[in-house]
Amino acid sequence: MSESRIFLSPPQMGGEELELVRQAFESNYIAPLGPMVDGFEQDFSDYTGFEHCLALSSGTAAMHLVLRHLGVGEGDVVLASSFTFIGSVSPAVFQNADLRFVDCCPESWNIDPIRLAEAVQECLSEGKTPKAVIPTDLYGQCSDYDAIHEICDPLGIPVIIDAAEALGASYKGRHAGNGGRAAIFSFNGNKIITTSGGGMLASDDAELITHARKLSTQARENFPHYEHIEVGYNYRMSNILAAIGRGQLGILNERVARKKAIFEHYRFELEGLPSISFMPVADYGTANYWLTCILVDPDVAGISYEQVRLALEAENIESRPVWKPMHLQPVFQHCKMYGGQVSEFLFSRGLCLPSGGALSDLQLSRVIETVRNVTA
Ligand SMILES: Cc1ncc(COP(=O)(O)O)c(C=O)c1O
Repeated sequence: MSESRIFLSPPQMGGEELELVRQAFESNYIAPLGPMVDGFEQDFSDYTGFEHCLALSSGTAAMHLVLRHLGVGEGDVVLASSFTFIGSVSPAVFQNADLRFVDCCPESWNIDPIRLAEAVQECLSEGKTPKAVIPTDLYGQCSDYDAIHEICDPLGIPVIIDAAEALGASYKGRHAGNGGRAAIFSFNGNKIITTSGGGMLASDDAELITHARKLSTQARENFPHYEHIEVGYNYRMSNILAAIGRGQLGILNERVARKKAIFEHYRFELEGLPSISFMPVADYGTANYWLTCILVDPDVAGISYEQVRLALEAENIESRPVWKPMHLQPVFQHCKMYGGQVSEFLFSRGLCLPSGGALSDLQLSRVIETVRNVTA
């Protein structure tokens, strides 16, 4: 293996980040909060259109705070997409909820509104109105929010949109995550922009954000001494990381454009192969193309997606199976699942290809040639 490694989705700095970090150092707001955090929250609000934003240590923390605010507790039903990353749903477990999973639909790989409606009906028939519904905007594409709201709104079920992967995407002209009770975003190292680790809770509900803000800083009451009437967490983002975030947000549109170009390049080169198909792009919005995902038909290719992954690995190229659905995870084997065949099918064929914004055309050609050679 002589060629340098091609990573799946490595961090990519835009150039301003270091200067902003230097300013944070100079101001001596090293720990923990400071003007960069306030600025990042404001910039994020301006970009996404949410009225209130709260910068946190991770997307998982953001989800946990919303569930705490909503009072999700022992035995409360939380319905979530099965085809997602565990950080989306582990906070429901932290709260001892009755976590149940819903399958996705083939049109967008996101939560299937028909299955969701069935799930809600079944919960109601058990006398349990779900305390929250968590759709994930998978791989940078929004779920069909209108269809979800049609089911949840008449029953007053809060929709918490997991837009961790969808910063820069949109649904019917509004930024990803809008319209629900709250949305969460992640700035983990592999995301479209990163603060090395971090997350954002966003909502138009001032009370929700005010309470989450308090919970995120050990639930300190407004006293000169430390006074607590409830227990919180240490979940805030540091001023230094917020400085990186401000720099990254400044180049987000460029990243989305580049990721789209990468997706289109792959599609142009590979879609003609009868064994390869691509994650569909729904027409109700614009995706951020965070990761380009393909399906490998083993009957046509004569090999599985795993063999494609190994062939790429042999060329020092990182790729990754699509998320293993939550209902197939050993840790969630006791959880109820509504449907399942679609996400199981996708998991049996799906592979995420290198999609870093800094990929050169030469590197893209290396990936494409390897996939072609083993599947054509
Ligand atoms: C869909 C989804 N939800 C939640 C998370 C959790 O975010 P974090 O890693 O910042 O806790 C991630 C990413 O890591 C994700 O991809």
